[in-house]
Order: sequence, then C-alpha cells, then structure tokens
Amino acid sequence: MDTIDTVIIGAGAAGLFAGGILAKAGTRVCVIDHAKKPAEKVRISGGGRCNFTNLHTRADAFLSDNPHFAKSALARYTPLDFCELMAENGLSWHEKTLGQLFCDQRAGAVIQMLLDELQNHGGDLRLDTSVAAVSEKNGQFDIQTPGQHMSARSLIIATGGLSIPKMGATGFAYDVARQFGHEIVTPRPALVPFTVSGALKEMFSSLSGVSTQARVSTGGTGFTEALLFTHRGLSGPAVLQASSYWREGMPVTLTLLPSENLLTMLKTHKSTMPKRSLSAVLNIFLPDRLTDMLASRFALPHSERIGALSDKILQEIAARLTGWTFIPTGTEGWRTAEVTAGGVSTAALSSQTMESSLQDGLYFIGECVDVTGWLGGYNFQWAWASGHAAAEAILCKERERKHASDL
Ligand code: FDA
Repeated sequence: MDTIDTVIIGAGAAGLFAGGILAKAGTRVCVIDHAKKPAEKVRISGGGRCNFTNLHTRADAFLSDNPHFAKSALARYTPLDFCELMAENGLSWHEKTLGQLFCDQRAGAVIQMLLDELQNHGGDLRLDTSVAAVSEKNGQFDIQTPGQHMSARSLIIATGGLSIPKMGATGFAYDVARQFGHEIVTPRPALVPFTVSGALKEMFSSLSGVSTQARVSTGGTGFTEALLFTHRGLSGPAVLQASSYWREGMPVTLTLLPSENLLTMLKTHKSTMPKRSLSAVLNIFLPDRLTDMLASRFALPHSERIGALSDKILQEIAARLTGWTFIPTGTEGWRTAEVTAGGVSTAALSSQTMESSLQDGLYFIGECVDVTGWLGGYNFQWAWASGHAAAEAILCKERERKHASDL
C-alpha cells in the first residue's frame, strides 16, 4: 500500500492547482484522474486561449444556495495572485472585455504550468486510473484503484460537475459526498443555450447565425451582452449567463436595443428623418434579417414612413421590442453546458478550508461544489481559490502535526 499525505481525485483545474501548492510545500501528494489526459476542460476553454480569471471577481458573480460561501476563499486567492503565477512561469495575458483575462499563449501552456508546479516539485500524477472506492478508518483514507490501495491523511475531491459527459464528466464527487453524509443541491446544466419549439423554433432557426446586443432577463436577473440565434433556440453570452438563473417553465424576456432608449430614438428619427421607413430606422441598430423577422412576428408597420406613425404606435413598437417574453422549452443540457450549477452542498463544508464538517480530512473543491460562476473566467477563479483554500488548510494541519511530533 502506498502511504502519502494527500490524494487528490480529479486532475482538472482545481485538482492540479491544489496539487501544485501541496507539492511545492514539500508534502507528498498524488493526483489521480480516470482520463488519459489532464485538464481537458482547460484545453478547450476560452476558444483555446483559456479565459483563466476575471478582474471583477466578487462573490455576487457566483450562484450558490449560500451566497456568502465563496467570499472567504475568493478574498484569500485573487485574480492577481493567479496572474503572478502565470508571470513567474513566463506566461502573458490580455483583457478581452468585461475584466476577462485570456492567455496570450495557447491554453495548453496553462496546463503545462499546472503540471510543472506539481511534477517539478515531486508531486505524482496518475492518469487513466479509475477509483473503485474510498473509505476512511482512524484518520486515514483508503483509495482503491485497480490493483492498488493508496492511503492518505487528506483526501481532496476535485472531479468537477456533470457538464460534457463525453469529456469524462461523472457524478463521482456527489457519490463520495453522499457516502460521507453530505447533501447534494440538485445539479443542473448552466451557461447553456436555450431551446424553443414550434413556431418560435422555426423563426429562430431562420435567423440562425444572426447576432445582436440584447438584455436577456429571467429569474430576477438580466445580462446585457451578445445574443445569438441558433437552429434550436438562442445562445451567445447574454443567454448563457441568464440560463444559470433559469428554471423549467420560467419566462425569459429579451430587450433588443438595450443601450438605447428605444422610444426616444424612434421619436428622434420621426422628427429628423420622417421619410425613412420604420424598417430602415430599425436597421440602423439591428441586423436586417432580425428586423424582417420582428416585423412579421409583431405585425409592425415596417414599410410605413416613420413620420406617418403616431407616438402611440411608436410606443407600442418600443414596448414590443424591449419586452419580448417567451418560455424556452428547455436547454441544450449536459451535452453543451459549460458548467454545472448545484452540487455538493456548502452547508457541511467550511468556507475557510473547503473541509467537510462531517469527515475530518475530506475536502471538496472546484466545480463539484455548489458554487457556480458567471461566464468570463469566474469559474476558473473559483477552481484556483477553492483549491488554494484546501491546500493551505492541509499544509497548516501538516505543520501542526510535525510540530506535535517534534515535541
Ligand atoms: P474539471 O472538470 O476541470 O476537472 C475534473 C477532472 O476530474 C477531469 O479531469 C475529469 O477527467 C476528472 N474526473 C471526473 N470524474 C472522475 C472519476 N470518477 N475518477 C477520476 N477522475 C474523474 N471557465 C472559465 O473560467 N473560463 C473559460 O474560458 C471556460 N471555458 C469553458 C469552455 C467549455 C467548453 C467548458 C465545458 C467549460 C469552460 N469553463 C470555463 C468552465 C471550467 O472549465 C470549469 O469550471 C473548470 O474546469 C472546473 O474545474 P474542476 O477542476 O473543478 O473540474
């Protein structure tokens, strides 16, 4: 039997990062993953450039049954801390928009950095290794892999959520959590496109590929970013963000032209260019294909000169285009969801250390925990921050243990 200080199950963003901290501090750590390659979600993230953090990271950019849970870990490991690590490793970055930091190099360089932090300091990585069972006795965890048992004082579960099963996502973390008495907040796909059916589907499908700025609101929250029509419904950053707040049956409201006061804009054009048709005026701000579709959907007097339309009609048009409400049939589901909302309940986890309050030495970090970030680098920041919190807590325990045995 291999006896080491810490076993981490899951060599994704959170697991590799926590492993690197533990290895660098000179403790014996082994990271296990059932996949043949580590951190595949990092590789595909940010269109291959890894949007590794967000400068505007704050607790209210995260969803959780306990909105305060993420505060402590996020405060103790910030976006600038991760930038410092990147710089130490010769990596550079740029801000794309809204505080989103992308790597100048390929995402593979971030993975290599995480691997170097682990392996150059003696940390062990075992890929293509499945875990049959974990158990605990007298303060030691027994981790069963094919043909081998490993024993460790600390066990970190970092196996992520359920999104994109073809990339090896499993509910392993939830099974382990349940085994030790933890509650699971029902996992649901998040940062995921909406699907629609019937006439709406036909309409959206005919606009497939058309994109526009919009505010997408649901569940009391709204996001103003790009919206993209697809063959099956709606996607784009504004939609993905809103999807995390959506539940089955909830209405979704689209506000087209969110940055304009549409009524004021229509009235201004009525007085400055009265001979222009309504369509021509809307086309200044919206893609032509979208204007055509809106005209037929809302029976707009699109070919009429705007100067001929009464203010009451303009008011009705503005109301339609800023409050277009519909109920999605569903979402694209786990197949395309970028993240999993819900997961291991924070109720029995320490927000300082990510340690279970039901089982000493057991930690849950990253996406498997009921903490889900907005789109734009927030989820990786949670992976780094929660991984850091757990690793620092384990190091603290190891120091105390050594101190006690030195006495
Ligand atoms: P992660 O999923 O990264 O790692 C879990 C690991 O556990 C995997 O290696 C898996 O193989 C392993 N595992 C699972 N079950 C196991 C089992 N039973 N036994 C052993 N190993 C097991 N976020 C962001 O902030 N910026 C971005 O740009 C993007 N972009 C993006 C694009 C796409 C397409 C997706 C799907 C997701 C993103 N994300 C993102 C989200 C981000 O990838 C995600 O939040 C983190 O990878 C979560 O890190 P974890 O380490 O918690 O899980």
